[in-house]
Amino acid sequence: MRESPSKDPHSRMDLGDVTQHNVKLLRVVNKFVFPVVYHDKFYKDVLEAGELAKLAFYNDVVVGAVCCRVDHVAEDNSKKLYIMTLGCLAPYRRLGIGSMMLRHVLDLVEKDGRFDSVFLHVQVSNESAIAFYKRFGFDIVETNEKYYKRIEPADAHVLEKKIDNTKRIQKEDVNGKCED
Ligand SMILES: CC(C)(COP(=O)(O)OP(=O)(O)OC[C@H]1O[C@@H](n2cnc3c(N)ncnc32)[C@H](O)[C@@H]1OP(=O)(O)O)[C@@H](O)C(=O)NCCC(=O)NCCS
Repeated sequence: MRESPSKDPHSRMDLGDVTQHNVKLLRVVNKFVFPVVYHDKFYKDVLEAGELAKLAFYNDVVVGAVCCRVDHVAEDNSKKLYIMTLGCLAPYRRLGIGSMMLRHVLDLVEKDGRFDSVFLHVQVSNESAIAFYKRFGFDIVETNEKYYKRIEPADAHVLEKKIDNTKRIQKEDVNGKCED
């Protein structure tokens, strides 16, 4: 019988690029993980997303994925990172794979230094995702009624983590330029 994966110190977790050769695996992960169907346009855009879209591997097997996009706020010329999907296949949860994907996203945002926040929608009933994001400093900032068209409950929380860019600004002041 196949043993369920565990936090074995010999197991390996890493992230890899989404390419035209493996985008079908992203479709499979999303199909198993999310109740929402993502269409061809989503996968076409993801192929252009660079570091904002990643597959998660557990011992070289694809078990999760994260896909984000940049939202520009016209009023104040700021930008926010929107997590469109971040998910892990059920047998591979609670092993740190979700954390690895979210840390990747937060690292990108921190390095960029010009994002105001990272945000996403979560079905109000999705307690595990809410607990997961709260652990990383996200707060529920809004609840959108009837956000989802074809799933129940239809209401979604907006979870958001504000980004403090002052540390980076102070670093730039000291060094006279950015480091990366
Ligand atoms: C949310 C999700 C991505 C978490 O992935 P994961 O790989 O299990 O997360 P991690 O193992 O990194 O968990 C990190 C911490 O988050 C919290 N957490 C994660 N799942 C939890 C759960 N079911 N209940 C309570 N806390 C939870 C815990 O504090 C956990 O640390 P611990 O295991 O040491 O207690 C995963 O449950 C998932 O894919 N859900 C379906 C898709 C989804 O809802 N995505 C969110 C919307 S984009």
